[in-house]
Amino acid sequence: MTSSQAQPLSICAVRTGRNVKSYLLTCDSFVQEAVYLGEIDLRVSKIKDGTVIDHIRGGYALDVIKILGITGKEKRVMTIAINVPSKRFGVKDIVKIEGRALNSQEVNRIALVAPHASINIVHHYKVIKKLEVKLPEVIEGIIKCVNPCCVSNSNEPVLPRFYVRSEEPLSLKCHYCGFTLEQADVLQQL
Ligand code: CTP
Ligand code: ZN
Repeated sequence: MTSSQAQPLSICAVRTGRNVKSYLLTCDSFVQEAVYLGEIDLRVSKIKDGTVIDHIRGGYALDVIKILGITGKEKRVMTIAINVPSKRFGVKDIVKIEGRALNSQEVNRIALVAPHASINIVHHYKVIKKLEVKLPEVIEGIIKCVNPCCVSNSNEPVLPRFYVRSEEPLSLKCHYCGFTLEQADVLQQL
């Protein structure tokens, strides 16, 4: 292959065990060529003390970050991995935060966007506690009904209450007015 030839190029990734080999592919009407570029190691570093939120469904790590109020300006080490290969789900996201624990309200909110996530508490490099996130059948007090006429949006002392119709994609039914909240309605509020 010579650099002077104008050819369509593409990068191709081939999975080999835990690693991905990348190839630069070139192609003209007569020749197809693959140049081995190297191996990309998909493993992300272990943390010493803190929390690892694993098995987040692919593409939702940034919603988890938002729920946790993380802006990136914090003086702590954080790793966000998006769409990494997962045996269980095909692809998954991971969020690792040094020196930070989660409270129960944060865990409940994470369940709305990542109902199959696991939360790992790490101490001295070891996972000392593993918590499987679970979306309850009834959700109370986390989000509001989007129907302005709903009694839960009036001045009545009524706690918003929803029934989970579907986890993925998320769909919730209001206990009071029967209105359906879709995933986007929920994400907007988190
Ligand atoms: N982890 C980490 N730092 C550590 C220990 C663990 O970042 N010091 C991460 C691992 O990379 C993994 C998650 O925490 O993403 C859970 O670790 P572990 O329970 O050891 O892995 P698995 O057995 O693969 O977990 P699971 O069964 O939940 O898939
Ligand atoms: Zn309602």
